[in-house]
Amino acid sequence: MLFFLITCFSFFLLSHSFSIRPLPSWVSEIRLSSSLWFWKELSFFTIYRSIKNSLFGGFWGIPSKMSFTEKTPLHKVENVEVGLEMGLLDLPELVLECILERLPPEGLCSLGGVCSSLRDRCMSDYFWKRHMKEKWGRILGRAAYREWQWHMASRKDSDTLEQGKPNGLMRLLSRFGPLSWIRSRLSNSTPQRSSVPVDSIMSWYLALETGRFWFPAQVYNRESGHVGFMLSCYDAELSYDSHTDTFQARYPPHGRRTVAIENGVSWDRLRAPPVETPPHDLHMSDCLNELHPGDHIEIQWRRNKEFPYGWWYGIVGHLESCDGNESYCRCHNSETVVLEFNQYTPGSRWRRTSINRKDHREEGNEADGFYGGIRKLCRNDEISVWKQLWPAEVLE
Ligand SMILES: *[C@@H]1O[C@H](CO)[C@@H](O)[C@H](O)[C@H]1NC(C)=O
Repeated sequence: MLFFLITCFSFFLLSHSFSIRPLPSWVSEIRLSSSLWFWKELSFFTIYRSIKNSLFGGFWGIPSKMSFTEKTPLHKVENVEVGLEMGLLDLPELVLECILERLPPEGLCSLGGVCSSLRDRCMSDYFWKRHMKEKWGRILGRAAYREWQWHMASRKDSDTLEQGKPNGLMRLLSRFGPLSWIRSRLSNSTPQRSSVPVDSIMSWYLALETGRFWFPAQVYNRESGHVGFMLSCYDAELSYDSHTDTFQARYPPHGRRTVAIENGVSWDRLRAPPVETPPHDLHMSDCLNELHPGDHIEIQWRRNKEFPYGWWYGIVGHLESCDGNESYCRCHNSETVVLEFNQYTPGSRWRRTSINRKDHREEGNEADGFYGGIRKLCRNDEISVWKQLWPAEVLE
């Protein structure tokens, strides 16, 4: 125990003298509260409140205006630091768990840098699962998960081959802007102390956060502003940029056209692929018999047969012979299904097409492109995303 104390103690001394950025304000708040109360009656609620404040207040690298450390001689701070650790680790397991559960990812990272005991706890999949789901859940699909597993496997191989390279966390953190101060702290510890297991959820989270891991997802209205992609959704590889809170998208080559890159893709233009069909494969439509006028659909479309498909939004329309009066409409019994793309002006060759309900696979030609598989949209949230993307002007 004494040895442990000394280790933590000296680690703090080191980290304190080397860290460039100030510690987050909540750390000093905890220090403040634990220094006053720890040896008498350390109250769980004190720490809980401090951490809670930090969750709702500014967190990152913003020096606390009331910073306790700045006004206190160093030796006093040291005592307080020991108090903090003793305090947290002496808490009943369940209480400590409650605290860690409420910490944001940055909090887990910084607390994990305090000592080995806290590090193991803060790396636990249990705490990271929730953060993973909250931040990335909506845009990560099975394809992204498979990609990560493949990435992990290759990382494990290369890690055993290239020993002596910077360990996992250091490499992950090397591009983790706001966490650069953690790196400076970690560089003072021994290498084993800071490596994050490659197959942990924390490792995946950090790989996403740092933009090191490119994952497959789909982008609405690709190459933003490009009129040729209005109300479509295309597959791309994405990398997150934490400085701008946006993504870089890499679209696969289109025939002779090389890879297209788009920067600054916002969160609301991304989605996890709703079906497993890869971008070059025809999706097997399973809704053809149910299509009624007014249904919202997405249909695969590609310019020519070498291009990948994108998903295009449309609605099922009425046949020319039908005036749309519900009492007489028999369109749902017809073999022909009319699809309308009302973002295009009446008369545009992109505004209407029709497919055969019985044997539709892929229809089209080199001039108008090829229409592939159809998904009927049943969920309101899926439909409303398309409505929000509706262009301000009618397209030619
Ligand atoms: C549909 O046809 C019925 C019967 O002819 C008529 O009463 C009704 O007004 C029509 N509805 C519309 C929307 O035109």
